[in-house]
Amino acid sequence: MYTQSMDTMAREGGDNAPRVLEDAALQARFDERIDAGGFIEAKDWMPQDYRKTLIRQISQHAHSEIVGMLPEGNWVTRAPTLKRKSILLAKIQDEGGHGLYLYAAAETLGVSRDELLDALHSGKAKYSSIFNYPTLNWADVGVIGWLVDGAAIMNQVPLCRCSYAPYARAMIRVCREESFHQRQGYDALLAMMEQGTDAQRAMVQDAINRWWWPCLMMFGPHDADSTHSAQSMRWGIKRISNDDLRQKFVDATVQQAQVLGVTMPDPDLRWNEERQHWDFGKIDWDEFWRVVGGDGACNRERLAMRVKAWDDGAWVREAATAHAAKQAARLAAAQAAQHHDTEQLQAA
Ligand SMILES: [Fe+2]
Ligand SMILES: [Fe+2]
Repeated sequence: MYTQSMDTMAREGGDNAPRVLEDAALQARFDERIDAGGFIEAKDWMPQDYRKTLIRQISQHAHSEIVGMLPEGNWVTRAPTLKRKSILLAKIQDEGGHGLYLYAAAETLGVSRDELLDALHSGKAKYSSIFNYPTLNWADVGVIGWLVDGAAIMNQVPLCRCSYAPYARAMIRVCREESFHQRQGYDALLAMMEQGTDAQRAMVQDAINRWWWPCLMMFGPHDADSTHSAQSMRWGIKRISNDDLRQKFVDATVQQAQVLGVTMPDPDLRWNEERQHWDFGKIDWDEFWRVVGGDGACNRERLAMRVKAWDDGAWVREAATAHAAKQAARLAAAQAAQHHDTEQLQAA
């Protein structure tokens, strides 16, 4: 059912004169709709580069959701209370669901889920680098909710207005759930800060010290160094620039940190009266590119876990396929028998 856009891909392959004219008209109509802030549906004509960019972005996003289940999955058996354990389980299941909505959205562009997963498992596809950092103590789970999901929300709310409608629709539901993720993380940290021991408060501060800078990197390179940004803004895929989103995130979280009673590990963090924003220090882009390039603390471990989960689940996929074939055969047999009965009745 997701192959409906294939016909438009085939049409783009033509190179004769009438087709060139037709494509120019289609391109003009596409540009007009984008300029007017409109939406593109799966069956609509779209430039190949727009399609490719979306497949890359949506599949990277889907991969990030499912790889993002791993660092937190580490803590399900060690959550401090039954309440925290059930919240964490629900959140991890949500992330799995986000991955599924997003793979389905990518499939509307004419790519198969198997191809996308192959690219992830072979290490060809990227996912958010933040998940290549380790979760060393329970406070890390709270900080992931507060800061990592918080940064994800900043990035994702504008995507609810992305010009590709199936992606935008998926993001509306994803964002509602992300907001719960962020609040459960903050709530877990607040409990440790307000009712915890000195050791627990120190654990929260330690987790923030390790996660703060990688979270600022989640918004991607500075606008001037971001290769895809300008074109994505032009296409209405991206609505707000990396640097603006990062600034919004800093402004929102510094205040939340004050309520929590923690500090950010940045001596240059200070309120700028003139700009009406928080100034912050230099991001270590060498670290960012090193982790993106595969050399973070957990890159190999995460990928190995994903591949193992995929291999271990092979019997489930095989059983589901066999079950579906059996159901289809049973339905076909029942229909044939019914057809036979009708013929006999008519003959009598
Ligand atoms: Fe998510
Ligand atoms: Fe989340």
